[in-house]
Amino acid sequence: PLVSMKEMLEKAKAEGYAVGQFNLNNLEFTQAILQAAEEEKSPLICGVSEGAGRYMGGFKTVVKMVEALMEEYNVTVPVAIHLDHGSSFEKCVEAIHAGFTSVMIDGSHLPLEENIALTKRVVDVAHAVGVSVEAELGRIGGQEDDLVVENAEAMYAIPSECDQLVKETGVDCFAPALGSVHGPYKGEPNLGFDRMEEVMNLTGVPLVLHGGTGIPTKDIKRAISLGTAKINVNTENQISASKAVRQVLAEKPDLYDPRKYLGPAREAIKETVKSKMREFGSSNKA
Ligand code: G3H
Ligand code: ZN
Repeated sequence: PLVSMKEMLEKAKAEGYAVGQFNLNNLEFTQAILQAAEEEKSPLICGVSEGAGRYMGGFKTVVKMVEALMEEYNVTVPVAIHLDHGSSFEKCVEAIHAGFTSVMIDGSHLPLEENIALTKRVVDVAHAVGVSVEAELGRIGGQEDDLVVENAEAMYAIPSECDQLVKETGVDCFAPALGSVHGPYKGEPNLGFDRMEEVMNLTGVPLVLHGGTGIPTKDIKRAISLGTAKINVNTENQISASKAVRQVLAEKPDLYDPRKYLGPAREAIKETVKSKMREFGSSNKA
């Protein structure tokens, strides 16, 4: 069933695993991700960035696609459709109207008080209709669609500010930027685990780790032990999908039926998602 993130993340935090947010890019991603969740018996968060939503034909199209596939595949695991890095109050409302069950409002570029005020407005409307909300503080480096943060602008969140934002807004989960990066890492990631522990102890809400691609398993496990209950992954699926397409087209230069290369891409995404679910510990937790 389609649900908000609230209960799935609280259960994950209490039981010591993380639920993956896997971003939708097109039909094949959506098929692969839903099938992986059902086969792994894992709860699932489908992430939709504003850019990917536009690409797929708008938020409503995305919701109908997810709903139709869930019916077609007899999906029994809990699934949330979540706006990833919502850029404004209006975009969050648009997603909620379209049937999203969860939204992120990303006010991380704003001064603290403005981020709090914006996040609070979104929480007020979202909670009124049972939709969960994620907020961010500090700045996650790298690039995801329209969102580009140069290295110099990337910033670690300050724990006392995180506490203030969570308490004053009532968000359901919270993403403190602590050195993770969107897209491939240049070298080893350097996550701020001491601050993560402080943020966990101060806020008490499930924490979110963005930029899940390329983080070593030991760091994933450590983050989960420090209250991380949601991990976002997109680039890793994009890389495995593209690799599969390149391989098929290189082997068969005369091939023209898109199903012949997008089918293998879909299989590759599915395998990647399943391995992430096992790594995050969410398999058999639905
Ligand atoms: O919000 C989405 C994620 O943080 C994705 O990060 O593309 O580096 O896996 P990633
Ligand atoms: Zn992100």
